[in-house]
Amino acid sequence: MRDPADIIRKYHEVIARINRTDYAPIIAIEGRGAIVKDITGREYIDLSASAAVMTLGYGAREVAEAVCEAARRITHYTHMYGYVPEALELAEELLTISPIRNAKVSYGLTGNDANEGALLLARAYTGADAFIAFENSFHGVGAAATSVSGIGLAREVEARIGEWARTYFVPYPNCYHSPYPGDEWRCSKYYIEELRRAIEEHRGEIAAIVFEPILGDGGIVVPPDPYVRWLGEIAREEGILLIDDEVQTAIGRTGKWFAIQHYGITPDLIPLGKPLGGGIPISALIGRADVMESLPDMAYTFTLAGNPVSCAAALAVIRAVREKGLLKRAEELGRRAMDYLRREAEKHDLIGDVRGKGLMIGVELVKDKESKEPALKEARKVVWRAYELGVIILFVAGNVLRIHPPLTIDEETLDEGLERLTQAITDVEEGRVSDEALKAVKGW
Ligand SMILES: Cc1ncc(COP(=O)(O)O)c(C=O)c1O
Repeated sequence: MRDPADIIRKYHEVIARINRTDYAPIIAIEGRGAIVKDITGREYIDLSASAAVMTLGYGAREVAEAVCEAARRITHYTHMYGYVPEALELAEELLTISPIRNAKVSYGLTGNDANEGALLLARAYTGADAFIAFENSFHGVGAAATSVSGIGLAREVEARIGEWARTYFVPYPNCYHSPYPGDEWRCSKYYIEELRRAIEEHRGEIAAIVFEPILGDGGIVVPPDPYVRWLGEIAREEGILLIDDEVQTAIGRTGKWFAIQHYGITPDLIPLGKPLGGGIPISALIGRADVMESLPDMAYTFTLAGNPVSCAAALAVIRAVREKGLLKRAEELGRRAMDYLRREAEKHDLIGDVRGKGLMIGVELVKDKESKEPALKEARKVVWRAYELGVIILFVAGNVLRIHPPLTIDEETLDEGLERLTQAITDVEEGRVSDEALKAVKGW
């Protein structure tokens, strides 16, 4: 077996930096459920579902069997020029669960593709060319998705490559950091005014509002209900399309098929990705049929999109989520995890806020509960200490721990993972993690 240190050293030599960052030096070679085994045989509880992908956990039999069965028959026959039965079946399944009625589906390979398709179609359908999007949002790394992403990295990239679309950024409704924490109504009013102002200033220019129903990489922020309802009403009244980016939130993660279903509004376009294929690359865009028809044949396609193996994997994921009752499970386990973390928050100076829906939970680390100053170095140290204690956890937005385990995780493993995580927080609070950890954990 190749020496682990050699793999890591070589990795940095031959793989471009634009592809990755460092959280923990895990060389994963096997997985079962929520457990990942590395090349040395060490096991970790993965509270990240590997970047929000492994909804069914590692080694899901349903996915492996569906993939092997399809691959044995045919690995590829392009649906651009022919017909793939699995692609049809998957589209039918997606339309059964979709909150958009009279919709159509198109396929891509990553969440980015699905968002780029939505952005192109929104411009084509409305004839308008600008967008409203949210500070700290993330929608992918293509030119169009970069334009509407609010995170710092997107602006850094755009400074070098230029912008694809004019985008007006408004703050994502974050009640914890608003003047009205704990008051959903006033918090919603506070943030919705900013959105209204942006729309009034740019009336006629806006093709779509691009919205994550829970802000993901920007810090796991759950928007207050009234805000999302008003957002939906405003978009409808103004004739602006609503792109509901569910790449991170769909397929049961929040306790519903789509997170937007918590708020009772209907978007026009829904990009999907990450968990859809259970680890096999596939993304989908569900959209209103009239919007989906607003570009010519072949205008948004990829040679490998609608691939039989990927579609078979996604079908297996959707069916398993349904058959195993994972929507309910996400809700129950989410409540269990949040109850525990909220009790822990009372005991830990570092934990400023615990928020989430289903098994999409954010734990915001702060230097001081009053000022809410982000505990950036501490978050990196917690990730490192958790790794040492056998738990995989990521931070987003610099100081928010993202708890996003497989929906199939059992109670015992979840509890054990969370206990080790809070032990890691204690160790950081008590100065038991040295600054050396900061060299290893970079994050983004
Ligand atoms: C909400 C959201 N949209 C889009 C993307 C991009 O997806 P991908 O990395 O599969 O292109 C991500 C990835 O983190 C995401 O969280």
